[in-house]
Amino acid sequence: MKIIIRRAIASDSQQLFLISNDPLVRSSSLNTKVIGWSEHQAWYQRQLSDKNSLFFVAEVEKTVVGQLRFTFNQSEALVSISIDPKRRHMKIGSTLLQKSLLALSANYPKIFRLKAIVKATNAASVGFFKNYGFKQHAYDSVKQIYTYLYTIREDPS
Ligand SMILES: CC(C)(COP(=O)(O)OP(=O)(O)OC[C@H]1O[C@@H](n2cnc3c(N)ncnc32)[C@H](O)[C@@H]1OP(=O)(O)O)[C@@H](O)C(=O)NCCC(=O)NCCS
Repeated sequence: MKIIIRRAIASDSQQLFLISNDPLVRSSSLNTKVIGWSEHQAWYQRQLSDKNSLFFVAEVEKTVVGQLRFTFNQSEALVSISIDPKRRHMKIGSTLLQKSLLALSANYPKIFRLKAIVKATNAASVGFFKNYGFKQHAYDSVKQIYTYLYTIREDPS
C-alpha cells in the first residue's frame, strides 16, 4: 500500500470534513460535538492561511485517509492527528507523523519539541504516542487528560 504524505490544500476540505465528523474521531477529540460544514470550511481556510499552523494529509489510492496538524506556540508544536477509522492499524498514522516531522524539523529550526494532549480513555492514541517515543509529561486527573512531549532537538536557551 502506497501512502503519500503531502501538505494539505483547499480541495482536501470535504474529505477532511468526513474524517473529522466520524463518530470515532469525534469521541476521541477534546471537543466531541459534531462539526457543521460551514463551521468546518471557515476553520479549514483559517488553518491553511495561519502561519502558526502546518497541515499535512495522508493519501492512499487518491483518497485522503488522515490528517496531521502542528500548531506552533513559541518553540513547541502541538500535534493533532486523526486517521480514517476504516484505515487504522496500517501504519498510516506513524508514517504521517514521521514524514510530517521530517518536514517540520527541516523547515522550522526554532521548534524544539512536540506536544500531544490525549484523553486517558483513548487507548489507541496513548499507545500511538508512546510507541513513537513521546514521554508522559503531565496528567490532569480531573479532566483525565495526559500531556505527552517529544524532543526534536535540544533547546539552546
Ligand atoms: C491514534 C491514531 C492516529 C493511530 O493511527 P494508526 O494509523 O491506526 O496507527 P499506526 O498503525 O501507525 O500504529 C502505530 C503504533 O501505534 C500504537 N497503536 C495504534 N493503535 C493502537 C490501539 N488501538 N491501541 C494501542 N496502541 C495502538 C501501536 O503501538 C502501533 O504499533 P504496532 O502496529 O506495531 O502495534 C488513530 O487511532 C486515530 O486517528 N485515533 C483518533 C484520533 C486521535 O485520538 N488522535 C490523537 C489525539 S491528537
